[in-house]
Amino acid sequence: MKTHGILIGGKWQKSDSGENSQSINPATEKSIGKFETGTPNDVERAVDAAEKALEGWSNLPAPKRGDILLRAAILMEKDKERLARLVTMEMGKVIAEGRGDVQEAIDVTEYMAGEGRRLFGSTTPSELREKFCMTTRIPIGVCGLITPWNFPMAIPAWKIAPALICGNTMILKPASDTPLCAIELVKMFEKAGVPPGVINLVTGPGGTVGETLVKHRKVRGISFTGSRDVGLSTMRCAGIKKVGLELGGKNPIIIMDDADLDLALDGVIWGAFGTTGQRCTAASRVIIHRKVKNRFEKMLVGKARKLRLGDGLKPETDVGPVINRRALEKIHYYTGVGKEEGARLLTGGSPLPGKGFFYKPTIFTNVDNDMRIAQEEIFGPTLSITPVNSLDEAIEYANSVTYGLSSAIYTRSMRNAFLAIQRIEAGLTYVNSSTIGSEVHLPFGGVKETGHGREAGILGIEEFSEVKTVYFDYSDRLQKAQIDEVRQ
Ligand code: UN1
Repeated sequence: MKTHGILIGGKWQKSDSGENSQSINPATEKSIGKFETGTPNDVERAVDAAEKALEGWSNLPAPKRGDILLRAAILMEKDKERLARLVTMEMGKVIAEGRGDVQEAIDVTEYMAGEGRRLFGSTTPSELREKFCMTTRIPIGVCGLITPWNFPMAIPAWKIAPALICGNTMILKPASDTPLCAIELVKMFEKAGVPPGVINLVTGPGGTVGETLVKHRKVRGISFTGSRDVGLSTMRCAGIKKVGLELGGKNPIIIMDDADLDLALDGVIWGAFGTTGQRCTAASRVIIHRKVKNRFEKMLVGKARKLRLGDGLKPETDVGPVINRRALEKIHYYTGVGKEEGARLLTGGSPLPGKGFFYKPTIFTNVDNDMRIAQEEIFGPTLSITPVNSLDEAIEYANSVTYGLSSAIYTRSMRNAFLAIQRIEAGLTYVNSSTIGSEVHLPFGGVKETGHGREAGILGIEEFSEVKTVYFDYSDRLQKAQIDEVRQ
């Protein structure tokens, strides 16, 4: 079986650890390839390579960088089916979603390619005569990108594409559950003409490779997507670096008594069980008006029970496996917690016997808002239903968690919709649509303990650049702001 190398200074090579690990298909538990166990020393070498490449890359005009990005997007498009199948084999999501994952990578790369001809700054008048004021964008420098397994192509691309277009060089540390997807993605950028040393890739454990990267003095920016706990330690280790954090979610769908229940049903099924619930944006809570609760529950359970679990490569599969055994155990642990807390299990609640990490779509009802299953991120196909009497109560519950990523409301009332938009503490609010499915030209990110910063869209450019303010004085005399020509 092939061992995939790490990429440093344009050369795919072995780690100096002499060790490697397997990448496992979660549907079959079979290995799909080996990858290197990188070391702090590999990170050191990768940072040196990135530092060396910085001058050349940052001085290449941004539109030319954009040309390379566009070529990468076209290459991904051509290879979309192969890449999508790899996503499904390595991560487990069903093939339609595997294609979506690759499409999101293509979209963001294409979008950022266009930014090469914008990267706008602003101009503004000076308070003094014969003086010109403007802002321009400059690269951060060497960036560390640490990415999760749940969108193994899209999220690395969300970070690589804006980092490239802004003129940075980088070291990517992909999740150890999905290194092969990251490797294939990076090869697309290489093939498109990204010069050696601009993108480096070191696989290996977060505790060594990730931490060395986060702490490294020459790494000026860190962009991390993953768990809240690792986010917190990233923040602590990073020192005075620019840090973007995209952490967890406990995203609610509010269903009001005036909602179109069929529409809400589709949204809840998609939000809770799409990607087997393994999105930061997944809907893990339904907060529903008491008047429609029983009716909706019946509809929901009927539909959830019909979902077919299986290998995501099979076209008939609705829900794929979860990522690994540890995840399966965590999800099952929370089923136990829910039962102990007194919530009522409506369906699911157990793994499937046999090969693969499959967990039945699980729905709890009569969940009190302060129960752990309503507060903690499970990251699996587990949904809790909490009844409420009013929109006020629904919003109070929606806001009661530590996270604030996505949210949704189903209602026919414009007043309810706008009150929800105004009052839900989250980076994203969907009206009459599920909590998942952000588009690459809009900012993505959260509030509270979901983190800070926004990826994708124009704000993705903010994440990966610094602003330089320029004062250009052409008066040929010393002019003093706040002192000369003061208001009479
Ligand atoms: C994530 O789960 O980390 O909006 C990202 C969505 C996707 C991105 C999810 N476009 O669900």
